Amino acid sequence: MRLGVNVDHIATIREARKTYEPDPVAAAILADLAGANGIVSHLREDRRHIHDTDLRRLRETVKSFLNMEMGATDEMVKIAIKTKPDMVTLVPEKREELTTEGGLDVINQKDHLKDVIFRLKEAGIKVSIFADPDIQQIKECSRIDADYIEIHTGHYANAKTDSELIEELERIKEAAIYGEKLGLGVSAGHGLNYHNVKEIVAIEEIEELNIGHSIIGRASLVGIDKAVKDMLKLMER
Ligand code: PXP
Repeated sequence: MRLGVNVDHIATIREARKTYEPDPVAAAILADLAGANGIVSHLREDRRHIHDTDLRRLRETVKSFLNMEMGATDEMVKIAIKTKPDMVTLVPEKREELTTEGGLDVINQKDHLKDVIFRLKEAGIKVSIFADPDIQQIKECSRIDADYIEIHTGHYANAKTDSELIEELERIKEAAIYGEKLGLGVSAGHGLNYHNVKEIVAIEEIEELNIGHSIIGRASLVGIDKAVKDMLKLMER
């Protein structure tokens, strides 16, 4: 199982003082040396953490796998085509949200997304869609030619009761099985941490996890090397 480490939170700390440190590119190098399989970074419309120059420098530096999260806007498509990350993950984006709040509504914007995916794939970039564990949405991801789905695990991570947790886990599992059946690559992410990741690792169809907050949070106390290695250990199958 592969691990993509999201380094946006390093840039969030930098932006707290609008200075030059800590550098998300340095974090990406350390995560890579610790054994991460790739780096994830979200260039938001408001540039609240990662800036265009960070993304450019990440592309020059990350030789493993660079996954650029972005909204499906014309501005971002142009930046992606110029930057050439290995993969783009299309996410919904709201200015007022603290973090991505849910999967992309593919059904209601399929024509637009199909065009975005076509343009990105023509530039040699793989495309993943951040999707809720919803069979209809996943079916649509396949119809519009996505390569991957990233199943949104946020509701699982936020479950308040055992029954809610089991229900969410079941939805994720069904979505992963369905996605794989359709020939999509299947990854998962959002809200995963050192306490809740095991149950997701147990779902065989999920090939990759993208994790940010919990790894960078732990890294602030014990360093990136240990934080990444601790997570990789929990992801051993
Ligand atoms: N995957 C996607 C699509 C996301 O938007 C995010 C948050 O940036 C993550 C994974 C990582 O989530 P977290 O920071 O909660 O681990």
